[in-house]
Amino acid sequence: MTTYAHITGWGMSAPESIMTNDDLSKIVETNDQWIRERTGIHQRHIAKDGEFPSTLAVQAALKALKVANLRPTDLDLIICSTSSPEYIFPATACLIQDQLGATKAGAFDLLAACSGFIYALNMAAQAIRSGSIKSALVIGSETLSRFVNWKDRSTCILFGDGAGAFVLQASDQPGGVLSAVMHSDGSGSNLLTIEGGGSRHPATEATLHDGRHFIQMDGNEVFRFATRVMASATLEVLECAGLKLEDINWIVPHQANIRIIGAAARGLKLPMERFIVNLQEYGNTSTASIPMAMVEAIEKGQIKTGDKLVMVGFGAGLTWGALAAEWTGPLPSKGHVHPEQYRRFARLRSLVRRAIRFVEGLLYRREL
Ligand code: COA
Repeated sequence: MTTYAHITGWGMSAPESIMTNDDLSKIVETNDQWIRERTGIHQRHIAKDGEFPSTLAVQAALKALKVANLRPTDLDLIICSTSSPEYIFPATACLIQDQLGATKAGAFDLLAACSGFIYALNMAAQAIRSGSIKSALVIGSETLSRFVNWKDRSTCILFGDGAGAFVLQASDQPGGVLSAVMHSDGSGSNLLTIEGGGSRHPATEATLHDGRHFIQMDGNEVFRFATRVMASATLEVLECAGLKLEDINWIVPHQANIRIIGAAARGLKLPMERFIVNLQEYGNTSTASIPMAMVEAIEKGQIKTGDKLVMVGFGAGLTWGALAAEWTGPLPSKGHVHPEQYRRFARLRSLVRRAIRFVEGLLYRREL
């Protein structure tokens, strides 16, 4: 029997705090008109103290679990795609696992920059199709604002914070993830990077002084690369799924720049109305941008059950990829679960486990 991987839950979360183009024009030499015309962005949401990729991810995940009518304890796997992890290690996915109380789930981070959500969705779908797991939570979550140089007007205008989450579940009914393609070209690794703080350039006074802990980007090169790959990846993933462009209701592109999306539309000879766009409100939220755009479109009633769509993205690495899916919605299930109630137990469980570890440590030391 063939197993299909359906997207059965979805949720998003953005920090409350908003930074408009006018706010930015007070800190760097720029203006609302330039940013709107060159990028399409009007504002972005910026994480406050105490907001992290894990906290945004948990808010999005609880909404996604509620839609899927699934408990955190039902999850087999959590993949967090992020380019702004809370630590080099442990993985942000493990912090999410703990905050949700997803006691059965394996958890790991995936780093493919702004293409990461497509990579992560594909990995989770493959694991479900192979029969090794039954359910997965895939999250794209970013607080890239923490790595933005607020003196660099060519990058600080672009990025915003947020999270989007999907629940994937196994089903014997056709639908869900239909095909995916993933590509990379590391010869362009220098075009978009945070150099400092890794093992090649560990954090030192010199790396801080040189601003190597900030995002650095060759905007024109990235722009050219993006306009080349968006249309080609879309056509490639459709061919893999045995679909034609006419079969597709929606294209959900990475929300980087309206001119890049416009170029993709021209390349595919599709009207802009077929593209889901919300970058005006959130800016480029990197790996969170595709799920956030999807969730808003579903909640507005744009994406409907039975629709076929392509998600397509590009980013640092260089990486790019696309995923075709048939939107089927939640699987039939009995009763109503309240995933948010598990959060309280999760906190308690986490405290108890820490206490047990502490006591075990004392006993073990006495035995030595
Ligand atoms: N406000 C006002 N002027 C600005 C500015 C800003 N925020 N940023 C740059 N400029 C100026 C430049 O200094 C330059 O001035 P000059 O002509 O006097 O030298 C001029 O505007 C044009 O700069 P340019 O870099 O050619 O602008 P652009 O139209 O290519 O837009 C980006 C710049 C960054 C918006 C665009 O290249 C881009 O979106 N690239 C892709 C980035 C991306 O998507 N990254 C994420 C990938 S996941």
